[in-house]
Amino acid sequence: MPHSGGTVCVLHLDKLKLVHFRNYELLELERISENVNVIFGKNAQGKTNLIEAVSICAGGKSFRAGVDAKAIMDGCKSAYIYAGYVFSGRPHFIEALIEKGSKSFKKDGIPQKSIKDMLGNLYSVVFSPEDMRTAKESPALRRAFLDGEISKIRPSYVDALRKYTEIIAEKNSVLKKSAGKGVSELLDVYNEQLARYIRIILRNRQSYLKKLNEYVKETHGEISGGCEQISLKYGGTIDKDDIEGQLKRLMPRERHDMQVTLGPHRDDLRIFIDGQEARSYASQGQLRTVMLAIKIACLKILADATGHTPIMLLDDVFSELDAVRRNNLVKSLTGFQSFITTADKSDAKRIENALVLNVSAGKVTVL
Ligand SMILES: Nc1ncnc2c1ncn2[C@@H]1O[C@H](COP(=O)(O)OP(=O)(O)OP(=O)(O)O)[C@@H](O)[C@H]1O
Ligand SMILES: [Mg+2]
Repeated sequence: MPHSGGTVCVLHLDKLKLVHFRNYELLELERISENVNVIFGKNAQGKTNLIEAVSICAGGKSFRAGVDAKAIMDGCKSAYIYAGYVFSGRPHFIEALIEKGSKSFKKDGIPQKSIKDMLGNLYSVVFSPEDMRTAKESPALRRAFLDGEISKIRPSYVDALRKYTEIIAEKNSVLKKSAGKGVSELLDVYNEQLARYIRIILRNRQSYLKKLNEYVKETHGEISGGCEQISLKYGGTIDKDDIEGQLKRLMPRERHDMQVTLGPHRDDLRIFIDGQEARSYASQGQLRTVMLAIKIACLKILADATGHTPIMLLDDVFSELDAVRRNNLVKSLTGFQSFITTADKSDAKRIENALVLNVSAGKVTVL
């Protein structure tokens, strides 16, 4: 169940239609469980593609790297996704049309202007093997993760991030062209604008992280049943209590480096297991469990913040967990609709009351 009190409405997908989407020529799926859906099939049959289609309708973009046009079935002109769902007890639908070089969305038949408009509809959280990179590789991936989750709760955060990035780009170009000489006034103007957005970004990231820290302790314990201590820290490069002062003091260094070297675009989300930095210390299994715990924590935060239970999309992680962790994971998803892909048939049988969808060469049958 969602973590805290208050009324939480169960959000769930109840229809998925795909036309010329990846290896799906035509799929019309109307039998979907409100609880656990196990998507089972051999390799390269279309399991991840199915989850990807839901994630595109939910967040406006794929969790997979690469250009949108790749999602159009080879030899076709466009791909179409229809995701029907129940929100606050009422039916709604999102449609996505992917064409070469463009992508457009409708909600209940009404065109949506931007990805930001898409964020308050079909709430979801994805966990895929790509997330192991988030745990291990560059801070940019962890910032993108954090920003993505905050944006689901607060779509206006997307605007603050965009403005901040634009001003940084302009300031960098001024620093590069003139090495900052004779443009002090201009740099002051940039700093004044930057201070405003830095404040918004830091406030949002730090308050999200505070909640994430509280929940992740609980979700990590639920999955691992273990005694490891997980803590998340914001690796900031600017102190939020003296933003203006620091920006001023940084000017000589920025002139020398000819770029903005500190700020939210350089910050990190640091993950610790028993006080040790996870990215350089943890085993594969520990990292996977921590990332999974983080994602389930995100699910619960999103439920608390919006009053709707998001959909959990789990790609390919199930078979890599031991039996105890698998059971604990399914338990911790009670009350949420979930989609779990696996290539291992025995996984599908092990989950009680799950609806098993068998995927074979872009065709789905309900077992
Ligand atoms: N644009 C496209 N047109 C046609 N087929 C595509 C397109 N994009 C991907 N595919 C194919 O879709 C197939 C299934 O991909 P998917 O990633 O969903 O497999 P999967 O069932 O998740 O497999 P695995 O168990 O290996 O993860 C692949 O064979 C891939 O080549
Ligand atoms: Mg896959």
